[in-house]
Amino acid sequence: MKYLAHQTKALTLSLLFLFITTTLLSQTYGKNGMVVSSNKLSSNVGVSVLKKGGNAIDAAVATAFSLAVTLPSAGNIGGGGFIVFMDADGEATTIDFREKAPLAATEDMYLHENGDVVYSRRRTELTAVGVPGTVAGLYKAHQKYGKLPWNELVDPAVQQAKNGFEFNWSLNRAAENFSDTVYPFMANYFLNDKKVRVKPTEIWKQPALANTLSIIRDQGKDGFYKGKVAKIIANHMKENGGIITEEDLAKYEAIERKPMKGTYKGYDIYSMPPPSSGGVALIEMMNMMELVDFEKVEFNSTEYVHIMAEAMRRAFADRAEHLGDPDFNLDMPLDKLTSKEHAQNRFDNLDMQKASVSDPTKYGQIYDGDNTTHISIMDKDGNAVSLTYTLESSYGSKTGIPELGFIFNNEMGDFNPQKGVTTTTGQIGSAANLIKPEKRMLSSMTPTIVGKDGKPYLVIGSPGGRTIINTVFQTVLNVLEFEMPIDRAIENMKVHHQWLPDVLTYEKDLLSPDTRKALEAMGHKTRSRTRLGVLMGITYDSENKIITGAADTVRPDGGAVGY
Ligand code: GLY
Repeated sequence: MKYLAHQTKALTLSLLFLFITTTLLSQTYGKNGMVVSSNKLSSNVGVSVLKKGGNAIDAAVATAFSLAVTLPSAGNIGGGGFIVFMDADGEATTIDFREKAPLAATEDMYLHENGDVVYSRRRTELTAVGVPGTVAGLYKAHQKYGKLPWNELVDPAVQQAKNGFEFNWSLNRAAENFSDTVYPFMANYFLNDKKVRVKPTEIWKQPALANTLSIIRDQGKDGFYKGKVAKIIANHMKENGGIITEEDLAKYEAIERKPMKGTYKGYDIYSMPPPSSGGVALIEMMNMMELVDFEKVEFNSTEYVHIMAEAMRRAFADRAEHLGDPDFNLDMPLDKLTSKEHAQNRFDNLDMQKASVSDPTKYGQIYDGDNTTHISIMDKDGNAVSLTYTLESSYGSKTGIPELGFIFNNEMGDFNPQKGVTTTTGQIGSAANLIKPEKRMLSSMTPTIVGKDGKPYLVIGSPGGRTIINTVFQTVLNVLEFEMPIDRAIENMKVHHQWLPDVLTYEKDLLSPDTRKALEAMGHKTRSRTRLGVLMGITYDSENKIITGAADTVRPDGGAVGY
């Protein structure tokens, strides 16, 4: 109720400024549309598309291309991701543009002759690069659901790359880290016109990237997957130990898939199906939360955090055992995993006094990668887009081709590297996510839209590797169960448990020391982290017709822009 009172007050204030964008606390209000992303310049690009009459998909396409310029650590054309789209009438769909294993990939391609995993091969060498999906995914979403011409959506990114933008301190930190010769491509990435490393507040231009984007602007999807760009990529791979060919690029297709659907106390939850594990795990955990009596379990109490951790442990055990690319795993028990009965079974043996133990030999039977970015959008008609895309690690594989100016992902690291080897440190060996040519690697990205009375109500997502599922889960619960305004829901304390390693991670300074000690006494092994998640969220008040957006304050350059 406390949060409800807070929100009502904020909304009353916002009504005074109905036709102008108003920023209050860390929330932004809009009447006609909202774009929330990890870079405010890119959110502005999305809003300018909405103002021109574009819909939420148009704005998502333009924002995503812009982030490839302003946020090269994760915004990309060299990676992949997912879109969840819900129109104003409540119809929901998804676009899967996850990267694929190249045709020449093999199950044991990351194993040394002695059987050990060679980590550099799946992290920083060209063998780590999956066939990129971003351009195909944005193109497919636009072809089917967009309104404005394609070239008008890509052009703002071309101009940003060509004319430059003010170099920010986050980019500067990365540039300083890459100043040695470990990653030669990255060492030469942040240069000014004089070929000297660009400094904060200077204008940073990216002419090679501008040229690649202009080809995509003029030729659509084929500009990336066929012709000159594809040839340059394939030649570079061949000459430098990579395995992606022109055939791999020409064959890449984004896929429209039915969303995972769950419910929570009358709300409808739509999220990403496999090859992401996000939707399945989110719905499984929300189902478990429906079994909790929140009259008795106080928010952020020891009991509450214990229940959260146990729900996460169980959902992640199921994830590890069952999930992978649906085109290669036709018998995944998705209906069972997202059923209310399964949640009840999982919760039946929860001991409220004691932590369970994660056992790598038993998966869920007992209790029968981190740089990505998220965009949330709502347009004036109430259509909503939740888009998460990634290069896997920050700046992906840290490789690229100077002539093309973009960074390649290292998404192949999301496959299980060693058949049958599941370790207490978190390496998974289940069959569902082993490497096969043209297979999509399992993801944790959880772009989500919650519907209320058949219309988009909450749009949310986050980067953070496996932590994504849990930070989205807790934010959704904060809004739906505790009625928090979106900024509070995003900023409140988050915890993370992923089955293995058997560790409960909490946000430093946000969990009370007494609660931590009580959890440790129950058997939880704890570890602190400065922050979990970089959430970008929107809620819609259909009664007052007000859109509220908030960008996680952990990303100083991020921004919710409404109008
Ligand atoms: N690379 C992060 C993910 O897909 O989960």
